[in-house]
Amino acid sequence: MGAYQIIGGRPLEGAVHIHGAKNSVLPILAATLAGGGQYTIYNCPEISDVDTALDILHALGCKTERSGARVCVDTSAAENREIPEALMKKMRAAILFLGALLARFGEANLTAPGGCVLGERPIDLHLLGLRLMGAEYEYDCETLRCRAKALRGCTVALPFPSVGATENLMIAALACKGEVTICNAAREPEIGDLIAFLRACGAKIDGTGTSVLHIAGAAALHGTEYAVMPDRMEAATYLAAAAATRGRLVLQYATPAHLQAVISTLERGGCEIVQRPNEMIARCDRLRAVSPIVTAPYDGFPTDAQAPVMAAMATAEGVSVFEETVFSGRMRHVPALRSMGARIYATDRHAVVTGVKRLHGACVEATDLRGGAAMVIAALSAEGESRITKTEHMERGYASFVQTLRSCGAQIECI
Ligand code: UD1
Repeated sequence: MGAYQIIGGRPLEGAVHIHGAKNSVLPILAATLAGGGQYTIYNCPEISDVDTALDILHALGCKTERSGARVCVDTSAAENREIPEALMKKMRAAILFLGALLARFGEANLTAPGGCVLGERPIDLHLLGLRLMGAEYEYDCETLRCRAKALRGCTVALPFPSVGATENLMIAALACKGEVTICNAAREPEIGDLIAFLRACGAKIDGTGTSVLHIAGAAALHGTEYAVMPDRMEAATYLAAAAATRGRLVLQYATPAHLQAVISTLERGGCEIVQRPNEMIARCDRLRAVSPIVTAPYDGFPTDAQAPVMAAMATAEGVSVFEETVFSGRMRHVPALRSMGARIYATDRHAVVTGVKRLHGACVEATDLRGGAAMVIAALSAEGESRITKTEHMERGYASFVQTLRSCGAQIECI
């Protein structure tokens, strides 16, 4: 079990290189399986979730090779249709291989995925769409066996714009006879990145950035080279860290257009954020509280930025109110922030944060990826020493986290 030791109280100052997006590269790696071929993926972040995705491809019979931010995958010889349970349990995004296995083999044998515990995380919307495409399945909430003699075109109206369901259904749709239309599709930028990758592989998909996607079936897919877009959640985390520590950070290779909800929230709190097409400069003094901060599907305030921004608001002047509408259990970081002196009253979906002048160091345990990042941000802004355990959560999603923070003046060490 990893831990970080942090001595807080210093403003972060310096330049941060934003890596490729975790939430893009995972569906893209899954999609390489849909049509056999050779793929080179650039700007691939060095995080443990990518290692897990590569382990899954390997377990399915694919060749994988990694050299820094470049990953080569050859899925031509894939033959297994079953993902080992130990790999399924490592991350939620393992479920994205369901659509790819069905598209490739008409068969998938999986177990329920693991990953961050953020409340209920069912896969009913994924299954609803696959059934409309003609797949049959047996699922007892632990084991999933899915078969499809032939997938067919259809219209799927999602009751909620689930990111994972939209991705899984888009990938499965590539093998359908006829067109698949997904209504109320997720519009997150990572969906656009997956569409751009699939188009580069020969797929015909219309509707990027809208909530209605049309996917032409029976695509003749081929290998390709593709560079993953920058990680907007990594950028949001560093913006929150700059705000919490009253620092100045230059975020290089970031896409401000993808982060308008977070940028405008922090600007309303008094941060100065200069936006250029591929760069942001954040300069912050003590924040003013902003209310309400309500998470929502894109282009609303992202649920993944809720915990990091709450850590920044913990020392803002005034009272901020958060409402979490996407996940039912995404306030698990609150007890840790409280033990650092934050004044937060929270229920499952709401938090009222009364800003204090300073937090103090404490020993806390990371609960999930973004919740753990929030604890790091709080510790960086706090007086004194903190120890954060279970840092494997952060390693799932932040490349070179500790080195980057150290290069900006943070006193943080892995122990
Ligand atoms: C993805 C992101 C995650 C982000 C989330 C919301 C990846 C790898 N992860 O997760 O970082 O926080 O989008 O932006 O891209 N739901 C159902 N039934 C389903 C599927 C989802 O009820 O079949 C519910 C979930 O329980 C949750 C909500 O829909 O309450 C959003 O989930 P979804 O958009 O699917 O998130 P993920 O794809 O899991």
